[in-house]
Amino acid sequence: MHIRGLGYVVLDVADVGAWGAYLRRFGAMVVEQDDRLRMRIDERPFRVEARATDGAEGLVAAGWELADAAALDVAADELAAAGHSVEVATRDECADRRVGGLIRTADPAGFGLELFHGPILDHEPLVSPTGSSGFVTGDQGMGHIVLGAPEHGDCVAFYVDVLGFRVSDVWRPDGSDVVFLHCNSRHHSVALAPASGRSLYHFMLEARTLDDVGYALDRQIDAGTTIMAGLGKHTNDHMVSFYSRTPSGFEVEFGCGGRQIDDATWTVTEITKPSFWGHRPPPG
Ligand SMILES: [Fe+2]
Repeated sequence: MHIRGLGYVVLDVADVGAWGAYLRRFGAMVVEQDDRLRMRIDERPFRVEARATDGAEGLVAAGWELADAAALDVAADELAAAGHSVEVATRDECADRRVGGLIRTADPAGFGLELFHGPILDHEPLVSPTGSSGFVTGDQGMGHIVLGAPEHGDCVAFYVDVLGFRVSDVWRPDGSDVVFLHCNSRHHSVALAPASGRSLYHFMLEARTLDDVGYALDRQIDAGTTIMAGLGKHTNDHMVSFYSRTPSGFEVEFGCGGRQIDDATWTVTEITKPSFWGHRPPPG
């Protein structure tokens, strides 16, 4: 199958209001309704949905985009042939997700995946609450997610062999493989790390300019958000970014300047440190 990109993420969170304030500090447009919020950063109806929960917080599902209905049918057939569950969303569920069609499955770690086609666009102008100059999405998708799981080898095989991701590069801290995977020109749309438990480490949003990143960093600091890693530049995707702690405890990476991959010329490499400079923990 040919996944086009990361469409959206769905999260379970304890404090929807705190999430709204947190996401607005990146310049995103946030609409809160009932016990959930949706974040817009482009013409898509949402890129993040955060739903209120009394239980565990974290990733409910990643929404992966396919070109059209025929591509989604092929994906469903390939998932079933590989022995994975496929649940077809109802018409009402598709309407709620604002897509033309959607199937659900799970990766070997149990992370939910929603494969969809036909996103229904929101043509109302994006109004950034902070005057952000905008976000890098389009054919690179919403950004990336980094997942940790004990079933690491099975997960890498699933994303590559079943979902069709290509390896961008690997990092081997302490002998363990962190694998960065792409499905479009974004350097990685997902990265997979071995871990003792299943967790979403962070999701990444890419701003158009360094100023957008710097202003957001100041706003998060001023609001008392914990900065988990200060400004730095990654060795693989060249993203200049910082990491802050979300109201749910995991992190958001917010950056700019990510480089893109051309599969015709890309060589898979092993990186030996994650950052050229920076990404230092806060002092003290
Ligand atoms: Fe990242």
